[in-house]
Amino acid sequence: MGDDGSDRRTGSDTKPPVTRAFVLHPDIKSNRDRRAAGPALAEGVALAAALPDLVVAGAEVVPLPKVQPGWLFGSGKIAELKERIAEAEAELVLVDGPVTPVQQRNLEKEWGVKLLDRTGLILEIFSDRARTREGVLQVEMAALAYQRTRLVRAWTHLERQRGGLGFVGGPGETQIEADRRAIDEQLVRLRRQLDKVVKTRDLHRKARAKVPFPIVALVGYTNAGKSTLFNRLTGAEVFAKDMLFATLDPTMRRVVLPAGDEVILSDTVGFISDLPTELVAAFRATLEEVLDADLVVHVRDISHPQSAEQAEDVETILEQIGLPEDTPRIEVWNKIDLLEAGDREASVTQAERSEDLFALSAVTGEGLETLLAGISARLRPAMVTEVLTLPYSDGKRRAWLFKEGVVDAEDQEEAGSRMTVTWTEVQKARFDRL
Ligand code: GTP
Repeated sequence: MGDDGSDRRTGSDTKPPVTRAFVLHPDIKSNRDRRAAGPALAEGVALAAALPDLVVAGAEVVPLPKVQPGWLFGSGKIAELKERIAEAEAELVLVDGPVTPVQQRNLEKEWGVKLLDRTGLILEIFSDRARTREGVLQVEMAALAYQRTRLVRAWTHLERQRGGLGFVGGPGETQIEADRRAIDEQLVRLRRQLDKVVKTRDLHRKARAKVPFPIVALVGYTNAGKSTLFNRLTGAEVFAKDMLFATLDPTMRRVVLPAGDEVILSDTVGFISDLPTELVAAFRATLEEVLDADLVVHVRDISHPQSAEQAEDVETILEQIGLPEDTPRIEVWNKIDLLEAGDREASVTQAERSEDLFALSAVTGEGLETLLAGISARLRPAMVTEVLTLPYSDGKRRAWLFKEGVVDAEDQEEAGSRMTVTWTEVQKARFDRL
């Protein structure tokens, strides 16, 4: 295997090159709060698969009694893995955990591959998903800060406008002496741009507020099924040419609910436990639209053995990014088609008893209609019924009530008209200002 993935397709082929990746999950025995290795590896593979143009050619858990400072793994294990990586024809190794710059350089040389650790992989995913200008800048800054600590190899992500894979076929060894000062200057420049973006953000928010429909944001742990549900609910291609929303980002689409009302549905980047702290700001920026949502739909993979822990992680992150407590939320238990009949029935029954819980399968379509009706119900502003007495001289306000169509009944009494009205808080406030 070439040391820079030189066997990749090149030339006139218009398809982006596919990178074969090998995923390793180091199961470090001395790590006290380590996660169950099997699901952790599965999550590593799912993360890798979240990147376009990448195929997972192999994956394994590597039991590790203790971390070897310069090499991460022991020499026997390194030789063994070298063979398997070569057999799988992988040109990229993804280590689902932290790898020091020295370990990275040593393993890359020994295995003849590019290597990314968990932070690097998540950064790639964020850069692929960042939609807003702020998101892109935050991810670039996190990438630069990451690169600064490992000047052994240029972070090729910086050469791209945004998105896609940048770590294979990049500048490689020639830029290894990338100037620390150049990075610092770039960081200053990015910080300045970011300040500007943050200043104009409120303007953008206002522009977005002009979208005449409520925004419903899908959030959830990675692999919960958000995108599947999103595509299922929006019928992806249908609105692709909708000019009104052409300027909205591609993860936002209009959905017509059964009652005829419309919402903008927004898909978001998946949540991940053990999010490296240096990535929190970048992650937050990719989630900016969630903060503006009128309704947050938390999608859970209810068939996952760690479903409860994942849900807790998601709730914690929502709190950390500052989601207002009073934002209405509903919970979706997805993938019920994967549950045993008994569990499935129990889930469906539990969901039926709760207004804010929906059990469904984004793949089979079971339960989708109920969810749509539920979204509609949650978004409909709460109505209250009240009784008012209007003096007969107050014809203007009485006329307003009829014009708004909120009057249920009217009785003529001595003091004036006794009106029974059902209205929203907004209507009530307007009435009070008349
Ligand atoms: P991230 O982009 O990582 O955040 O993932 P996501 O939440 O968008 O998940 P995605 O829609 O990509 O689905 C992940 C996997 O779960 C895919 O293989 C889907 O086919 C599968 N999946 C989603 N919903 C269901 C479901 O209801 N039943 C079954 N059996 N599989 C599902």
